[in-house]
Amino acid sequence: MNDIIFFGGKGGVGKTSCSSAFALSKAKENLKVLLVSTDPAHSISDLFNIKIGDKVVKLADNLFGYEIDAQKESEKYISSIRKNLKTVLSPIIIEELNKQLDAASVSPGSHESALFDKMIQIINEESENFDLIIFDTAPTGHTVRLLSLPEILGAWIDSLMAKRRKTLKLKTMIGNVNNKEVEKDPILEILEKRKATMEKARKIMVDDKRLAFMFVLNAERLPIEETKKAIKVLTKYNIPVNNLVVNKILPSNSTDEFWVKKKELETKYLDMIYKMNIDKIYEIPMFMFDMDEKTIYEMAKHF
Ligand SMILES: Nc1ncnc2c1ncn2[C@@H]1O[C@H](COP(=O)(O)OP(=O)(O)OP(=O)(O)O)[C@@H](O)[C@H]1O
Ligand SMILES: [Mg+2]
Repeated sequence: MNDIIFFGGKGGVGKTSCSSAFALSKAKENLKVLLVSTDPAHSISDLFNIKIGDKVVKLADNLFGYEIDAQKESEKYISSIRKNLKTVLSPIIIEELNKQLDAASVSPGSHESALFDKMIQIINEESENFDLIIFDTAPTGHTVRLLSLPEILGAWIDSLMAKRRKTLKLKTMIGNVNNKEVEKDPILEILEKRKATMEKARKIMVDDKRLAFMFVLNAERLPIEETKKAIKVLTKYNIPVNNLVVNKILPSNSTDEFWVKKKELETKYLDMIYKMNIDKIYEIPMFMFDMDEKTIYEMAKHF
């Protein structure tokens, strides 16, 4: 069975609700489950009405939660780079570098890669403690970009390493540094570490025995379009999408003309969804109430 599941989808379709309900259903099947939120809005805490944060917290029998704070992770990451470099570079260069790092720490890319590192770290450290790790992600664009990071960053890191090696080679030629210093170059070390993380991530991602991607959508035109596009991009990066969750399915017993018409449209859109050739499709009903720590158990029964 897959032991890592990513829940993705358009904003507001029900990623947090469905990933939580799915996690609960698996916990009830006696699997030990870790539910991880990568969304800055941190709605798992709200849903279960339990404060989580960046530690593993028990949410129910067999179910545990963890929230990644990308901002904090990014700050931690940048400050570790600062510390690493301080030992080997001159104060003038450090000052220049600090300016660049300040700029980097507020750029969205640095949040994403810090978030990514944390996700990989959780997978590496917690896989042994849990049967299943479920990630509730932020809306699609973000997730898809995140999952394509290893590919994009991998190539970029390669080019940075090649550049750094060239500089060091020139320096050894004019006698500025010796071979030993080249071997222990802190910049190369950082780049190598990042490259190793990215490679590990890629391995996990393209391994369809380990990772499953669940797209949550509603039976409406725009979420269908967005899902199709996202599947295309993920397929390009060799990340399999074999599950869909169609959430907020309308009741079929309404006699009111408005809802009858709505249901007809939904049936048409459901047809389109089934034509997408996905291995498994879950249909989850629209509930009368918002999701909370009680209704989430109702939803779990549908997985
Ligand atoms: N099956 C359902 N029936 C009724 N309400 C639902 C259902 N699924 C989700 N909701 C409600 O829809 C809203 C959005 O759900 P949720 O927060 O799970 O979506 P999301 O995809 O995680 O959103 P975001 O993109 O903001 O992270 C919430 O108010 C939730 O209570
Ligand atoms: Mg959410």
